[in-house]
Amino acid sequence: MSKVFVNISLSLDGYMAPEGMDLAHFSDPGYKNWGAKWGALMAWALKQQYLRDKLKLGPGGETGPVNEMVRHIFERTGAHIMGKRMFDGGERGWPEEAPFYTPVYVLTHEKREPWVRPGGTTFYFINDGPERALELARASAGSRDIRISGGADVIQQYLNLGVVDELEIALVPVLFGGGRRLFENLREPVPKFRIDKILDTPDATHLHYVRQ
Ligand SMILES: NC(=O)c1ccc[n+]([C@@H]2O[C@H](COP(=O)([O-])OP(=O)(O)OC[C@H]3O[C@@H](n4cnc5c(N)ncnc54)[C@H](OP(=O)(O)O)[C@@H]3O)[C@@H](O)[C@H]2O)c1
Repeated sequence: MSKVFVNISLSLDGYMAPEGMDLAHFSDPGYKNWGAKWGALMAWALKQQYLRDKLKLGPGGETGPVNEMVRHIFERTGAHIMGKRMFDGGERGWPEEAPFYTPVYVLTHEKREPWVRPGGTTFYFINDGPERALELARASAGSRDIRISGGADVIQQYLNLGVVDELEIALVPVLFGGGRRLFENLREPVPKFRIDKILDTPDATHLHYVRQ
């Protein structure tokens, strides 16, 4: 059966996105310095050759174990689930060929027709809650896995449902001081994880946990 996994970047003080990074300030990265903070959080990823190629950022890039980890994330994923706030930012920021290449189920209260992108990504807007989105994702992923892409709100809902099999965190040595916190709003019984592996680099510590 498909695994459900999360792979995100986290600031050292536990934030997935800095304060000020919202739609109202999307074109003002100087607001609360959100642009520089986000850039620092994502720097490790944008150095990787595989991702540079997917995002059309130009040639070059690292080709070592982190790059292979990134490649594996893309290759294993048969469907994505994300929240509307992540989607809203991405709709403005992703290249035309949005870098998912699978169905993407967007949890939202907004009613909207599917949005088909070149390259194999189609966004479906789901108004029936996280369990329904997971059901649809499982049906379309086949034997591949389901990535809960983010943001924090959506990951918290799936942690609370107890369905996250693997939690991958790139812990980046930057401090945000505020923003969207990953670990909050969790209910008892909280899920339990054990450390599976750790890949340590100067840019980020890649922590891989599996559910106990
Ligand atoms: N650090 C990383 O690796 C990483 C990864 C992904 C995202 N991010 C960042 O995280 C931020 C977004 O995270 P977030 O926690 O603020 O928001 P989010 O999880 O992306 O989206 C939350 C929104 O999705 C909709 N939604 C969620 N659950 C729903 C449900 N059960 N039913 C209906 N609608 C539902 C609601 O929007 P509506 O009511 O408007 O529909 C809700 O406000 C962005 O800045 C993004 O760039 C960071």
